[in-house]
Amino acid sequence: MKVLITGGGGFIGSQLAKRLAEKGTLIGPSGEAEEIDEMVLFDSHFSPAIEQGSIPHRTLLHGDLTNRDSVFEAVDRDDIAVFHLAAMVSGECEERFDDALSVNLDGTRYVLEALRARRGTPRVVFASSVGSYGGEDMPDTVGDLTKQTPRTTYGMTKVIGELMINDYSRKGFLDGRSARLPTIIIRPGAPNAAASSWASGMFREPLSGETCYLPVHRDQLHPMLGYRDVVDSFIALHEADPDLIGSDRAYGLPSHRISVAEGLTMLEQVANERNIALGLVIDDFNPVIQAIVDTWPTATDGSRALKLGVPTPKSVKDIIRDYIDDFTSHSS
Ligand SMILES: NC(=O)c1ccc[n+]([C@@H]2O[C@H](COP(=O)([O-])OP(=O)(O)OC[C@H]3O[C@@H](n4cnc5c(N)ncnc54)[C@H](O)[C@@H]3O)[C@@H](O)[C@H]2O)c1
Repeated sequence: MKVLITGGGGFIGSQLAKRLAEKGTLIGPSGEAEEIDEMVLFDSHFSPAIEQGSIPHRTLLHGDLTNRDSVFEAVDRDDIAVFHLAAMVSGECEERFDDALSVNLDGTRYVLEALRARRGTPRVVFASSVGSYGGEDMPDTVGDLTKQTPRTTYGMTKVIGELMINDYSRKGFLDGRSARLPTIIIRPGAPNAAASSWASGMFREPLSGETCYLPVHRDQLHPMLGYRDVVDSFIALHEADPDLIGSDRAYGLPSHRISVAEGLTMLEQVANERNIALGLVIDDFNPVIQAIVDTWPTATDGSRALKLGVPTPKSVKDIIRDYIDDFTSHSS
């Protein structure tokens, strides 16, 4: 079978591709585990490391999600599974409304239409976000029954994506599942345009000996999940028995609710364990970022996803240890 990962050049998509290359199989149209004989990463941009082969057994397809023909060309087999991760992230969606609609709404629709044009009911896993919640009536802990009233354009596009997944599945055009992600840590490399970028930066920059400039308050609580867990959650959602999915196919993932201060304490403890000298963390309050973060929930109830087989989140200290091993020169 073929696997297509849109956004396969990004943080989570590239980690998912590495994991699938190791795993080698997924449940295919036969309903049984089938060998992945083709894995295509579709993205408008790939890092030099990916271009040079850091992910094995993959084909890179440079394309734009807003180009319907490119998307249809990528979905060229009936025995296909799609992980749809390509999207504009929260900060850039606030700044570029029209582009946000083209990429996150039209692009998602092209992916679903391309799958609809295939024979059978191919599985697709869509990356949604806790950014789909918001508003003054939002509880601190959000769950799958919490009403989604986002206060950002990004969040709006994610709610619509979830609803499209539900309806295309109800019509029998495909078999979709949505993973509603908390903030995933720790993104390697450069900061991105997400308003939650600091949640990775507060670990990443000090670990590489650089200064971290914190745009939010230190008592800010935030729902966080590790990158290895989110990859395993995508796979678990893909593999879940269709009879167990139900009519609402959007599953909120579990997470840790920690404050910035708690996260920094855990970072110091792990750095001491590994003998790593940390860079400084300097408060550099940014009211625009804080205002977006204030619209988000601080905790997630992932019990429905856990019942379906997504993993129990690793501890934050273990996420920091994984990151050191996977992405830094301090690996043990
Ligand atoms: N990382 C998080 O904390 C988090 C939290 C909630 C939801 N999500 C969602 O998970 C998904 C993956 O997130 P990520 O952190 O890996 O983001 P990322 O920005 O690292 O990856 C997204 C990829 O999509 C690609 N892309 C954007 N527009 C495109 C277009 N028009 N055509 C083709 N490719 C395009 C980008 O080049 C990028 O490589 C996204 O849908 C994001 O909204 C992420």
